[in-house]
Amino acid sequence: MSEFLQGWKRTDYCTKFSTKDVGRDVTLMGWVQTRRDLGALIFVDLRDRTGIMQVVFDESTMESDFSMAEGLRSEFVIAVKGQIVKRDEETVNEKLPTGLIEVKVDRLKVLSRAQTPPFEITDDTGVREEVRLKYRYLDLRRPVMQNNMMMRSRIAAAARDYLNSNGFLDIETPMLTKSTPEGARDYLVPSRIHQGSFYALPQSPQTLKQILMISGFDRYYQIVKCFRDEDLRADRQPEFTQIDIEMSFVDVDDIIEANEGLIAHVFKQTMNIDIPLPLKRLPYQEAMDRYGSDKPDTRFGLELVNVSDIVENTGFQVFSSVVKNGGSVRAINAKGCVDKFARREIDTLVDFVKIYGAKGMAWISMKGDGMSSPITKFFKDDELAALLKRTNAETGDIIFFVGDKDKVVYDALGNLRLKLAEKLALIDESVFDLLWVVDFPVFEYSEEEKRFTAMHHPFTSPKDEDVDKLMDDPANAYAKAYDIVLNGNEIGGGSIRNHSTEVQEKMLRALGFSKEEAWENFGFLLEALKYGAPPHGGIAFGLDRLAMLLLGRASIRDVIAFPKVQNASCPMTGAPTKVSAKQLLELGLKVTE
Ligand code: AMO
Ligand code: AMP
Repeated sequence: MSEFLQGWKRTDYCTKFSTKDVGRDVTLMGWVQTRRDLGALIFVDLRDRTGIMQVVFDESTMESDFSMAEGLRSEFVIAVKGQIVKRDEETVNEKLPTGLIEVKVDRLKVLSRAQTPPFEITDDTGVREEVRLKYRYLDLRRPVMQNNMMMRSRIAAAARDYLNSNGFLDIETPMLTKSTPEGARDYLVPSRIHQGSFYALPQSPQTLKQILMISGFDRYYQIVKCFRDEDLRADRQPEFTQIDIEMSFVDVDDIIEANEGLIAHVFKQTMNIDIPLPLKRLPYQEAMDRYGSDKPDTRFGLELVNVSDIVENTGFQVFSSVVKNGGSVRAINAKGCVDKFARREIDTLVDFVKIYGAKGMAWISMKGDGMSSPITKFFKDDELAALLKRTNAETGDIIFFVGDKDKVVYDALGNLRLKLAEKLALIDESVFDLLWVVDFPVFEYSEEEKRFTAMHHPFTSPKDEDVDKLMDDPANAYAKAYDIVLNGNEIGGGSIRNHSTEVQEKMLRALGFSKEEAWENFGFLLEALKYGAPPHGGIAFGLDRLAMLLLGRASIRDVIAFPKVQNASCPMTGAPTKVSAKQLLELGLKVTE
């Protein structure tokens, strides 16, 4: 113990005492939350990470100089020695766990003084996030943030607990690794010794955990930082944490089973919630067709309905041409919403779907006195009847239609679905809705790059029957891949991997790598696969997202101690910053303006 604290040893946290401790001599330490000065009596709420204890300084009985207590201000760090006493009837505070008692202080020691903080250390500060992040140390003192970080720690502990007791080995992989074109943009680290060469920070330990399987470790896990230089969103950070898992001699069902066990254990340990197993599994195509999303929120209905066959041969050019060109027309029936959406609001919704690339959105309002719609006039009676029947339209409903390429229709209506649920308050926030999405396609077509890219990553195994389709019919090749979804958020994803060099090479060829490029980029893995690779597969959970959802937060920044803001900078440290000319010289780098 340092000199400074000589003779002062904390008895326990502020809230660890009750009426059973009345009469006990204690030493407490913490921050001054509030100070109420009644002249000869001063009340201080003393705060630590567990909560608050009221401590009382009485001029007539205190041993230390009373003026010290008069000088206390918010956020001073203090130590007090005194006795636990019962509070007077009138000062009892039922809201505090320690509300029946207080500490009558004999001695006070000021451990640290504090400037007036830029915002009050309470849950409802109302201060801008920029300011909170600049003074993150103060922000993190707020009880809500303390709770978030404690919960995150408990989630990680529960995961470790489950994985450790199920034969998984915690093995670290390097942060300075090889840049490989896996999906996102790499963060690069220049090498001083090999000037002009770069390490990459891992986007995930994907290839290395596979190599650990080839090394025979059988079951691996790691709670590990991953780095991706991507645009930030509420659920995305440039560095984030995965619970990363890989297993040998397994197929899809084995991995799903083990990870359902993990997720159920985490829910039980951290929230005392029993998750009924097995979880439902939704094939990718069904998820898209019903919800317009591969991470569907199934806590409410508003499912999509395909009306392409009905509109294909009608006189409404917009719809018939979309279908004839290989697209689709789909609808959502907002049940009983006619009176909830005035014309102006419908227009807002039409603008909303345009964000997702829709060229327009048609609608039919089933009013009591007949239909109102910009499109009914284009249909013959029997066509209209068929549309209404397919969409289960009844008086009081509004039916929304979007026609376009499938991708646009899914995106527009999938997001409209979420928007409507929010507007109509259809989501029961107390429900945790977990499901697997399975049977993903191997590839997705990138309009931007005009080529097929990997839907998961290039190491994912195609279904056995689809190996030949990798080259011949890539659009219809399906993968042994799965995602786990919680309340409409992808909290994890994984796959069975290619454990044969041939299939892996074929996959890379299908992704447009020449043999030389494949070996240049992934040679270490392709080589390793030649020396006896067990069938293997795995998954990674996004720990930040999981914590965010369990805590009911809207942003992952709230569950990360030191997150970055939209432009990938840290308001507290100022990172990234310029470096000295000497540093650049050592690295053989030159910065151009
Ligand atoms: P994937 O890229 O799907 O898979 O990542 C796994 C999970 O990590 C979370 N996640 C993120 N969280 C916050 N910010 C981000 N930028 C971010 N990106 C991803 C998501 C996601 O489900 N190697 C594979 C896993 C495997 O195949 O085993 C991988 O990284 O919750
Ligand atoms: P128009 O004949 O172009 O004025 O379109 C008639 C209605 O169809 C309007 O309500 C448009 O918003 C709607 N509409 C236009 N394009 C689409 C589309 N791709 N999908 C759905 N509705 C559309």
